[in-house]
Parts: sequence; C-alpha cells; structure tokens
Amino acid sequence: MKHLLSTRDLGRDEAIAILDVAEDMADVANREVKKLPALRGKTVVNLFFEDSTRTRISFEAAAKRLSADVINFSAKGSSVSKGESLKDTAQTLAAIGADAVVIRHQSSGAPLVLAESGWIDAGVVNAGDGTHEHPTQALLDAFTIRRRLHGRAARGKALDGVTVTIVGDILHSRVARSNVWLLTTLGASVTLVAPATLLPIGVAEWPVTVAYDLDDAIAARPDVVMMLRIQSERMHAAFFPNAREYSRQWGLDDERLTALGPDSMVMHPGPMNRGLEISSGAADSAQSTVLEQVANGVSVRMAVLYLVLSGTHLAGEKSVSDERTVS
Ligand code: NCD
Repeated sequence: MKHLLSTRDLGRDEAIAILDVAEDMADVANREVKKLPALRGKTVVNLFFEDSTRTRISFEAAAKRLSADVINFSAKGSSVSKGESLKDTAQTLAAIGADAVVIRHQSSGAPLVLAESGWIDAGVVNAGDGTHEHPTQALLDAFTIRRRLHGRAARGKALDGVTVTIVGDILHSRVARSNVWLLTTLGASVTLVAPATLLPIGVAEWPVTVAYDLDDAIAARPDVVMMLRIQSERMHAAFFPNAREYSRQWGLDDERLTALGPDSMVMHPGPMNRGLEISSGAADSAQSTVLEQVANGVSVRMAVLYLVLSGTHLAGEKSVSDERTVS
C-alpha cells in the first residue's frame, strides 16, 4: 500500500487484510514491552493543519510502537501561519527525509494533492481532510465493531448483515463518509438519521438508507448506533433552531439509550459534545465503545503505517495510479 487516502477505493479483501494486521498489532499492546522494531530508521511526520487530540496522539503512539522516528508538525506555530504553501512545506519535509506523512488538513483533497504532487516521495496517510474522508477512523470503527461481535475470532471476518445507524451532522462529517464506504464494502447495512439540513446533496446516490426519525431508528435496535459531533466550526449558517431542540430530536439521551437496549453498541469518534448529541449516561454506558475506539485506533494506525512503510502489497490492492479519491 503506497498511500491511504480514502476508504472509497479500498476493496473488501484489502480492508479485511488491514483489519487483520491491526489484530496482530493489538497483540503487541498487551505485551509488557509494547514495541516492535519494524519501522526502525523510518521517519514519520505528523502534519496537522487542523486541531486534533485523539488522531494526532494515536498516530504518534502508533509510529513510536513501531520504532519509527516521529516529527510532530502543527500548522500553528509553524511558517504555515506566515503563509508558507503546502508545496514549500512538503519540499521541506522531503529535504528532512520523511518516509511517511500523516496529514490532516481543512481542505478536502489536500492529501491527494500531496500524494500526487511529486513534491515529496513519501507515503501519504489521510488523517482527515475537510469534510471529505477520515479513513483510519472508519477502519478503527470497523475494527471495534468486528471485535465486539467476534472477540478473538475476528480475524478474516467482514461485517456482513451488521446494521449500523449513523446519526447527526452527516453533512460536515468526514467520519460518516469514510464509514459509509468502508462499512458497506464490508457488507454492513448503513442507515443515516439526520435533520434534512444536515444531509449532503447527493446522499440519494450513497449505498445507504436515509431516515429522519431517531426514535423509529432506535426502535429497530440496530447492532450499532454511531453518534456524530455537531461540527459548529464548519457551520456558517443555522442548520437547526438551537442546541436544546437538536438534542431533543437528534440526541442519544438516557431515555433513548434505554429504548435501544443493552445489545446495541454506542459509538462516537470524539470529541463529544456531552449533553448535545450524546448524554453522559449514554457515553459512559457499558455498551459505549468510545474508549475502545481510541485504544483500537493505535492498533489500526500501526497497521496502516506498517503497510505503507514496508511496501507490503495487500490482497485486492489496486496499483498506485488507480488510487484516486472522488469527493
Ligand atoms: C473526528 C474528526 O476530526 O473528523 N474526530 C476524530 O478524528 N476523532 C470527528 C470530529 O471532529 O467530530
């Protein structure tokens, strides 16, 4: 795998293979010494143009567990705030000898530009680009679902027949997009529940069912309910009347958690707006996977960095020239 830019162009066998490598990596996390020498001598740059807690520290932990050298570069406090372009930044990283660049950027498509630019000959991993994609988040979500369902016997399995309901700010969510492509590729049935104002144009062409009533969706007791953060920083208009109204209609509160029953998983990529899209009762419940998602994120990112940096080819993988994303 040369780059990981999106989940849209991942094949089913390829996706399962990444999750299986992540299972191997998870075994390392249970050892007393959580470190492998696999990427000794390789340099991974975390290039973050947008704020991040979980994703950045997760990639950092992943690279370090594989013995790579890690350089963290956040746009705040760098020459990017003096107007340096992505090209100059990339060429600087090339001169330093970066082998992989993990990039988070506010513009959809920035990782693809970097991968195809020729400015730098490094593996590029998309850590979230605008509202477009966040492939490692979807992979860690799929990994978390698979593990909860199959435990130690998860290896080799897809998600055939698993029902996943994704709720909330779909419009601004790269997590939702990456999950829609990946989970459906793995055989899951995905339902989106949101106010009409927070659904993207073109959603009718996605391989999903769209619904507007959260109580009905919960009554169906899906295997997974994935709540999304209201992304106020991307909203330049009023998409719902006010926070109280949103939470009443679209929030997973304690009452809805009870209606959902104990067998459904409750997921959230974080950061959570407690009391808005999810109550503390739901976030901290036994069926919440929020912290498992974070822990699994390290294993999945170890797998991705390993596959990108070791030049390993996966089953069903397309050639690099075919690796294009469509927004
Ligand atoms: C998500 C992101 O940044 O896209 N967070 C994350 O990576 N865990 C979701 C969000 O910001 O709401």
